[in-house]
Amino acid sequence: MTAVEQARALIARMTLAEKAGQVSQAFAVPFLPPVDQAVAEGRLGSLLFVPDPARINQYQRLAVEQSRLGIPLLFGFDVIHGLRTIFPVPLGLAASFDPGLVEQAQAAAAAEARASGIHWAFAPMVDIARDPRWGRIVEGAGEDPHLGSEMAAAQVRGLQGAAIGTPGRVIAGPKHFLGYGAAPGGRDYEPVSLSDAEIRNVYLPPFEAAIRAGAGNIMSAYMDINQQPAVASKSLLDDLLRGELGFDGFVVSDANGVQNQVAQHFAADEAEAAARALLAGNDMEMALGPNAFARLPELVEQGRVPEAVLDRAVERVLVAKIRMGLFDHPYVDEGEAARVLAEPAHRQLAQQAAERSLVLLHNREGALPLTPGAARRVAVIGPLADSVADTLGPWVFVPDKAETVTVARGIAERLAGVAEVTVEPGVQLRRAIASGLEAFGPPQRAWTDAEAEARFAAAVTAARAADQIVLVLGEAQSQSGERASASDLKLPGEQLALLDAVLATAKPVVLVLLAGRPLDIGAILPRVPAVLMAWYPGTRGGTAVARALFGDVNPGGKLPVTWPRSVGQVPIHYARSHTHTPDRAGSLYHDAPSTPLFSFGHGLSYTSFRLDPPVLDQPVLAPGGAVTVSTRVTNIGTLTGDEVVQLYVHQRAGRAMRPARELKAFQRVTLAPGESREVRFCIDGETLSYWNASERRTLLDPGRFDLWIGTSAEAELHLELTVA
Ligand code: GLC
Repeated sequence: MTAVEQARALIARMTLAEKAGQVSQAFAVPFLPPVDQAVAEGRLGSLLFVPDPARINQYQRLAVEQSRLGIPLLFGFDVIHGLRTIFPVPLGLAASFDPGLVEQAQAAAAAEARASGIHWAFAPMVDIARDPRWGRIVEGAGEDPHLGSEMAAAQVRGLQGAAIGTPGRVIAGPKHFLGYGAAPGGRDYEPVSLSDAEIRNVYLPPFEAAIRAGAGNIMSAYMDINQQPAVASKSLLDDLLRGELGFDGFVVSDANGVQNQVAQHFAADEAEAAARALLAGNDMEMALGPNAFARLPELVEQGRVPEAVLDRAVERVLVAKIRMGLFDHPYVDEGEAARVLAEPAHRQLAQQAAERSLVLLHNREGALPLTPGAARRVAVIGPLADSVADTLGPWVFVPDKAETVTVARGIAERLAGVAEVTVEPGVQLRRAIASGLEAFGPPQRAWTDAEAEARFAAAVTAARAADQIVLVLGEAQSQSGERASASDLKLPGEQLALLDAVLATAKPVVLVLLAGRPLDIGAILPRVPAVLMAWYPGTRGGTAVARALFGDVNPGGKLPVTWPRSVGQVPIHYARSHTHTPDRAGSLYHDAPSTPLFSFGHGLSYTSFRLDPPVLDQPVLAPGGAVTVSTRVTNIGTLTGDEVVQLYVHQRAGRAMRPARELKAFQRVTLAPGESREVRFCIDGETLSYWNASERRTLLDPGRFDLWIGTSAEAELHLELTVA
């Protein structure tokens, strides 16, 4: 029997209450009502936030041995950038511009999750974000649909493998469908208004790529889009997601997303909310307690929800369980879990991922790399220098804290025997306003005034006594992620005062930034010779940062987001359309330049590269044909390093205005000094097509196109292509 036939045979035996149970998911966490009874009575089909193998087996035994039909539970969890071994946050992974590496990282994360008994990751988060005030920009791949699509597909392949049910892999659940990152003002959960063209050409592509890669689940978004909550939008969840994209898995709401329709003043009551979500195509309800889908049996009996619609949702969930083999193997091997979670290869991969995600933003007169031992006394100063939580970043729940290498520890280990390393936080970083999600994160005690004064003085003393200072500044884990929108991008807290005090010692300083978004460092740049962006680098982040600071590894990451000069420029991204002043002559603001501090795709290296003028194998793209643009990249410096060659395109004229530049291809290459490599990109009709709002279809405009090859969105090597 096929999975669908097995599911239908089971559905034929299920009561309405059992059907409603299968499409209900609950948090199983200590501070919410216990779920044991509901599981034993078949009123829940899935649990989340249970990462412990033994507890997973306990709940699973209740479902399999006590409920009437013994249908196994599906366990989901936020495995966003690792479970026990933590990889760089997704924005950092995107900065690697290395989809192959990202696929490997998510495969390791999947191995740890699956071994723990988790069947489903609420990942990858694929929301395009063009406003760094939005805290969840950290969770995605940044501003660009092409980079976002490549990273979405790579993560689905890594998490899920070639097919659902692949051993050691989990169901991938791209989220949040759709447009969550377009929150006005960067304010989390804010209602979103997007044109069809923006939806189709900017926010949808990463989901299309994730679905093409086989994603088995989609999570609908919290907010309303164009005045309709995504969770109850049939045009999104049925017409677009299934009708056009061909998604054949199951859709889960975000936490309380179904009943939130009442709070959003869309549904009159919980029963209406349940009906609207299910009818729209939101198959499963994730809830933090009593859930709206418990009303489904009465809604079916009242005729407000056809039983066939409920059966459709139940079937999608059962098919996922059958394809994951849960009916044959519902339990997890707790011994195997311990072995996989301790897998040294995962730590190695985490270090490699962290090294490849580092972006060297600024490096005046080769201030970096430092020479190990050149300075006898090195002071590592800053609130993020030796903080495990802030090295790992948000969306981390069961990390291996002892295994986590902070920047301070990484530097101390790297300089063992050749220098004396002192570590001082200097200041403490705390949210000014609580998020309400504190139950999910590590507790933090505020320093007393006396402590704060003493710590600040100790940092200045350490700076004075040092020959070299490494400042580690940025934003705390609690100031990034969900409900962590920022009204300003300046370094939070008293970090600027600390920086001023450290610079006043006139000792050599380099700056390492740990953050989940671009921060306002414009005023700092002229005062600090080098800045390394490390995002939140994960379990081996400190080792990676130390190896980069001391030249063992040459940073080669690039920015997946435009880096604004100030919050006043936001939203800002490179792919804007031409205006009648295309050259942006002068500045459109009267008080500041209109250009960003750093462009999308920007990233320096300890070596230098030369790109030869690109060539096209033919100047005209014939209908149905393809052309190849190639260039040769040469390492003209003295150290091995990586460069990311990028291809941008622009359509000169057509049936819609298209962005002044759009990334359409990239390739990261590693070259030894003097080595060169040819890089070739294929361009066909699909590369240059877009969804046209007037004609409501994807089309290709004939005519002249600009191509640029370079190493950031400011690429200058230009070619012209004619599309016949
Ligand atoms: C959160 C997030 C979602 C996450 C879910 C479960 O509120 O919006 O991304 O997967 O709830 O933690």
